[in-house]
Amino acid sequence: MQQIKTEKHDAIVLSSTSEKDAQKMFTALLKNTPLPDDELLPNLGLFLSSKSFSRLLFFYEIYQKILHSHGVIVECGVRWGQTLSILEALRGSLEPYNRHRKIIGFDTFAGFKGFSAEKDGHLCKNQDGSFSVSANYEDYLAQILSLQEALNPMSHLKRFELVKGDATQTIPAYLKAHPETIVSLAIFDFDIYQPTKVALEALKPHLCKGSILVFDELCDDIFPGETVALQEVFGLNNCRIKRLPMTARVSYMEIE
Ligand SMILES: C[S@@+](CC[C@H](N)C(=O)[O-])C[C@H]1O[C@@H](n2cnc3c(N)ncnc32)[C@H](O)[C@@H]1O
Repeated sequence: MQQIKTEKHDAIVLSSTSEKDAQKMFTALLKNTPLPDDELLPNLGLFLSSKSFSRLLFFYEIYQKILHSHGVIVECGVRWGQTLSILEALRGSLEPYNRHRKIIGFDTFAGFKGFSAEKDGHLCKNQDGSFSVSANYEDYLAQILSLQEALNPMSHLKRFELVKGDATQTIPAYLKAHPETIVSLAIFDFDIYQPTKVALEALKPHLCKGSILVFDELCDDIFPGETVALQEVFGLNNCRIKRLPMTARVSYMEIE
């Protein structure tokens, strides 16, 4: 399959030419929408493709699995923050009064840090700095996440945190500063070996039976480092890696 990087952000796209053409038309229709401003947000479903919708459904199913377990949600690798925003919407819909369900996102907001050709291979053709976002993007994202909270009960309590910096330092530092942390859901989406390994090692003592770990790149030849990190920290023989039928790439396991 042909691998194509988007011009600006190095994302590998495995879509066919016709899929890419359709996506471009979708984007053009969104940019030139005739919908009035006050009707745009409630009608964003117009632009939801089956691929994007599948990811929403996946996280809906995953969220159901943590509803009866205590603890926070951690996302390792935030980028534009869509998953964090979806999780806030799910919390607002499914358990709006759970004030302990903080959602914490770790990212450099400057792309990959710690890429190693030895561990991460050559297929992804990435390097440190790949998957970067625009300058000060974390401020824009914080505004979106605050607005999500403003639209839900208990909006006077801030229940998200964006932690900027190299996760090999920020995750251990966060957990040292917050020894009370129990992780009910951790999402691993750094794509690469080094931060994934450090995150798994640091978060492991904060997991309980029933905690859910989600992985974006397991068994993925383009980003082999995530699987290697899991193998080294948990041992694949000890993991029951599951998937849901609507998404191809994402997988999860429950701590047993
Ligand atoms: C594929 S993106 C995450 C996508 C996101 N989970 C989503 O749902 O849209 C991978 C992210 O990992 C981040 N990342 C990679 N290495 C990192 C490191 N050492 N520390 C912090 N963030 C890192 C990159 O900046 C990038 O935003």
